[in-house]
Amino acid sequence: MSTPTIPVTKTTHSNLANFNMNEIAFGKHFTDHMLVADYEDGEWKNVAIKPFSPIALDPSSAVLHYGQTIFEGIKAFKNDKGEFVIFRPDQNLIRFNVSAARMEMPQVPEWLFIEGMKQLINVESGWIPTTPDSSLYIRPFMIATDPYLGVRPSLTYKFMIILGPSGPYFSAPMKILIEQKYTRATPGGVGFAKNGGNYGASLHPVELAKKKGFDQILWTDANEHKYVEEVGVMNVMFVIDGKVITPSLERGTVLKGVTRDSSIILLREMGYEVEERNLSVEEIIDAHKKGVFQEIFGVGTAAVVSMIKQLAHGDYLMDFDPENMPIANALKLALHEIRMGRKADKHGWMVKI
Ligand SMILES: Cc1ncc(COP(=O)(O)O)c(C=O)c1O
Repeated sequence: MSTPTIPVTKTTHSNLANFNMNEIAFGKHFTDHMLVADYEDGEWKNVAIKPFSPIALDPSSAVLHYGQTIFEGIKAFKNDKGEFVIFRPDQNLIRFNVSAARMEMPQVPEWLFIEGMKQLINVESGWIPTTPDSSLYIRPFMIATDPYLGVRPSLTYKFMIILGPSGPYFSAPMKILIEQKYTRATPGGVGFAKNGGNYGASLHPVELAKKKGFDQILWTDANEHKYVEEVGVMNVMFVIDGKVITPSLERGTVLKGVTRDSSIILLREMGYEVEERNLSVEEIIDAHKKGVFQEIFGVGTAAVVSMIKQLAHGDYLMDFDPENMPIANALKLALHEIRMGRKADKHGWMVKI
């Protein structure tokens, strides 16, 4: 289907002039407009860009009871050439539709997801922060809207895109606890999907870890808590004896991160060996005892590359110097340079708006 021009209703009271682009708190501020679309009778309709506002939902809406909801997180930037670019939104569309299929929700076509996002960003171009390392965070999501309390897939849905300016995301090096009781995802479950319930279920164990003085959890497999999976809401990478190792996707319990995929490609291009495989806590501790556990970092859209300064397994503490993580730092710089247009985008990752 060719891309329809989406009707735009402009706000009469923009918040842009009053917004301080130098004081941006992630996730708290949204732009003036949003994209909305309804799924009814097997098709997407009522697609529109309108002033950002609360939405009315019937209290019996399926999403409020059974969690039929999925989302994505993407960033747009103003690069050094002054162009507005989005990082690999095609990958987020693929993942969104993988999540939709798992949650028995309808597929969202490219014209609605990608073109809708571009048209919305065009309307909001004044909201893209230009301060170094800032971006415009893009949050597409879909919710089940049937006013019905029976447990079955909804017949109606709402797809929306909202945008929020995002400041330079400095993530302080983290202290991480290896989780030995709770589980984020199980084989056969929904860990590979970006559905809301995964995140709700993670809150309690993360709060328990915070009470013990940690910033986040290193999730381990559901059966034995033996193999590592993800760190908080990021994919995780280890450098052991010069090799980069990241948990494989095959059990369906690790989200297929766009940053993870991009990192694997870039690290291999830089000449590093990257292994996607099961990595046990035992192997990690053994490597630490031998002095060959060199780096550990998280990768994800929000913070891109996040250094980890301490990893704990019960009382056994493994400490790292974030300044002395050459691979993590080189990866961070490479991703940044591609986004800013300083380095050739040979894979065509940057999509111009
Ligand atoms: C559970 C989880 N893992 C990993 C990631 C990193 O994925 P991406 O690089 O696509 O942001 C995210 C964030 O989207 C996430 O929510």
